Amino acid sequence: MLSNSANDYIQREGPLAQAGLLANIGPNGNQASAAAPGIAIASPSTSNPNYLYSWTRDAALVFKVIVDHYARSPAPRDLSLRTLIDSYADAQSRLQEVENPSGNITTGGLGEPKFNIDLTAFTGSWGRPQRDGPGLRATTLIAYANWLLDNSNKTHVNTLWPTIQLDLDYVADNWNKTGFDLWEEVSSSSFWTTAAQHRALRQGAELAKTLSKDDLAESYSTQADNALCFLQSYWNPNGSYITSNTGGGRSGIDANSILASIHSFDPSAGCDALTFQPCSDKALSNLKAYVDSFKTIYGINEGFSENEAIATGRYPEDIYMEGNPWYLTTFAVAEQLYDSLSVWDAQGSLQITPVSLSFFQQFSSNVQTGNYGADSQTYGTLTSKIRAFADGFIAVNGNYTPESGSLAEQYGKDDGKPTSARDLTWSYASAITSFLAHDGIVPTPWGAQGLQIRRDANGHCISNPGPMSEIVFEVERNTLYGENVYITGSIGQLGDWEPANAVRLEPKNYPSWTVRIEIPASTTFSYKYIVQDQRSGQVTWENDPNHEVASPFKGQSVVLSDTWHD
Ligand code: NOJ
Ligand code: NOJ
Repeated sequence: MLSNSANDYIQREGPLAQAGLLANIGPNGNQASAAAPGIAIASPSTSNPNYLYSWTRDAALVFKVIVDHYARSPAPRDLSLRTLIDSYADAQSRLQEVENPSGNITTGGLGEPKFNIDLTAFTGSWGRPQRDGPGLRATTLIAYANWLLDNSNKTHVNTLWPTIQLDLDYVADNWNKTGFDLWEEVSSSSFWTTAAQHRALRQGAELAKTLSKDDLAESYSTQADNALCFLQSYWNPNGSYITSNTGGGRSGIDANSILASIHSFDPSAGCDALTFQPCSDKALSNLKAYVDSFKTIYGINEGFSENEAIATGRYPEDIYMEGNPWYLTTFAVAEQLYDSLSVWDAQGSLQITPVSLSFFQQFSSNVQTGNYGADSQTYGTLTSKIRAFADGFIAVNGNYTPESGSLAEQYGKDDGKPTSARDLTWSYASAITSFLAHDGIVPTPWGAQGLQIRRDANGHCISNPGPMSEIVFEVERNTLYGENVYITGSIGQLGDWEPANAVRLEPKNYPSWTVRIEIPASTTFSYKYIVQDQRSGQVTWENDPNHEVASPFKGQSVVLSDTWHD
């Protein structure tokens, strides 16, 4: 569109992006007339690539934009949008029921990444499952549910709840399993996916509580704590960036992490690094590593100096469609920077830590770590340069947007010409959210404020076992002098089958040995008794089979009188 300024481009592209997004939603969108009601197609492109499908991820992100817009609008609201959101909710609840190559509604089918636009299963081979979809969809539907609650429509929320609960249950059960990343290529754990799951569980726990579903609230919040623990493990302290995938054999520098940061933005959480808030030191250091990785690999980025914006792509090693810049990743960089500026302005200061120092030094080479109040010269200099940097990313996309305002998926790394799928719905969504961020419009808080984790002596996050119950283990065993009876088994409380971490029983009524242990409630596990000789360290295991038992409900206690298996 050859706009020389971000403002100019935003003025012209804003309405076109909104229209482009709506055009891709069936059946009234003029590019999506074959799609079922409420179905967002990824793109109308039917070949090279064929994107005329509906991805759960893309659709959830697109409808999040619509729901947020609707909720933010002053009354009288646009009822056609409300109808559209209802048809999205309805279509998603039907899709949950569609048996597909990932499974059915109870066996993992919710992890299926994409469907045909008539709500039938896509059965071709694909990178599946992708476990970000259910969490993203839950977050979108919860945003709608929260608006309904604020507007006294609990009845309607009750009809949405079963769909939301299915997604949350899927996330609670599967967040620690591997799956394909958002780019559908690497099967491992993925930062974006964990972040989306954490947010969904956190918000889901809150909504469940509001609806008086206390047991669900507790189990979602337990798993949210655990996902938050796991989220910390993606940080790479040596490279000072987020390793986006645990597998894949790449650097791990990836737009995955930039997108995760903007979609985790909670203006009430300040610059908290636990959830990698946009202005957190970790997220800013990560942004620098990410942007820098595209400096030398795209012809169109040649000749730019250190703090000038450039075009960015999914990850530097990308070869899909020859590995080009993407509109949505370049917008995401701008968005993270605008989000940061909004928080600094709201809190009246910005902090530079050793982790974020090199990010800030791009804008002022002599700047030092410390806290800079909004009235300081350093604050003024840095924020105005960072705003110009952010605007630059918008303007770069503007340069490569055609006169029509159409946003494809990518633009050529050497010629800047739009390429791959045309009119990508997600590209439009990302334009809209980055333009809002440019205008200082921040999203609704989602519960990232004040989160905490506990760390052990090695600095590792301690997971939350959830509700506990108690078991008294009893077993009869004759022992020799110096021998003691222990229990070990398949759960952490019993030392995960490691004799060294087994729990010792007391010979209170010898030869009966006993111990009382807190165990996660309602959990099935197996165990064995062992005898260890204090002096020689020799271990004698009980014979097979293992004992197996389900622990009692939360807060309850049982006594198990076992017989030693000779
Ligand atoms: C299609 C996926 O949508 C895309 O993300 C991926 O890069 C290519 N397949 C190649 O695996
Ligand atoms: C390929 C992208 O890699 C993936 O993230 C996206 O969901 C699909 N295209 C559809 O837009």
